[in-house]
Amino acid sequence: MQISSLSGLFNITGGLIWHARALRFRYRLWRPFRENIKDFLGSAPQINSKHHTNLVLIGPSAGWCLSDEFLINYKQIICIDPDPLAPILFNLVHGKALRRAKVKVSWRRADFFADPQGQLMGLEDPLILFCNVAGQFFLQNHSEEHVKYVLSQMKYVLSNKDWGSFHDLYSAPLRRDLPIRIYSSRPDGKSLLMDYGLTGAWLDHLTGEFLPQALERRIIAWQLKPERVHLVEAGWVYAQK
Ligand SMILES: C[S@@+](CC[C@H](N)C(=O)[O-])C[C@H]1O[C@@H](n2cnc3c(N)ncnc32)[C@H](O)[C@@H]1O
Repeated sequence: MQISSLSGLFNITGGLIWHARALRFRYRLWRPFRENIKDFLGSAPQINSKHHTNLVLIGPSAGWCLSDEFLINYKQIICIDPDPLAPILFNLVHGKALRRAKVKVSWRRADFFADPQGQLMGLEDPLILFCNVAGQFFLQNHSEEHVKYVLSQMKYVLSNKDWGSFHDLYSAPLRRDLPIRIYSSRPDGKSLLMDYGLTGAWLDHLTGEFLPQALERRIIAWQLKPERVHLVEAGWVYAQK
């Protein structure tokens, strides 16, 4: 589904509010999170000797949390995001490095989850990265069942592709420095919060079944705002050939 009009400018998961927040917090409050994401991106299949030419970014926005070092590994980057400001700001943040590395960037203003197969059609063996977007899907007026279903099916839709994601698992109104944790498979929500010694009410972003159950993953804390912390899950999934 292609998106017309300025709807993406004010969407609840991106748009102006997101960019204003990123401009305010990117350099200081988000620095530890961005460093951890850079490290996660550095462990991508591309870097580990699988040579994808195409990279598809789902919900990259301006790439506020993405690193040049990761992006310059590809010849072509296809960005899928409904936000009309994303291409301009992405170019401001990453354009210089990408031009120097002769990486071509193209954009589609579309809802990836509405037609994932259609969006990927014709792309030769791309690496796909969900950029902090899966955990926002529940904000878009879908029922809880629909969100869980669509996200849990994505691993089957993408079974012949290499893909990765970093996405919100849980969030809460809290200020806390939390270390990165590695799990060899999916932890259940309660054990995860217990491992961190966390209590209280946490918002479930309904992404628990997005990554395959038996996949190694890292949990990275993100202090999104001074008074709100997110637990972000990140993992790479290899194609079943
Ligand atoms: C929280 S922001 C992620 C920002 C990005 N990781 C960065 O480094 O700046 C979520 C982004 O996903 C986009 N988005 C939301 N729903 C989407 C969908 N269904 N398909 C593609 N992109 C989507 C939003 O427009 C927004 O730019």
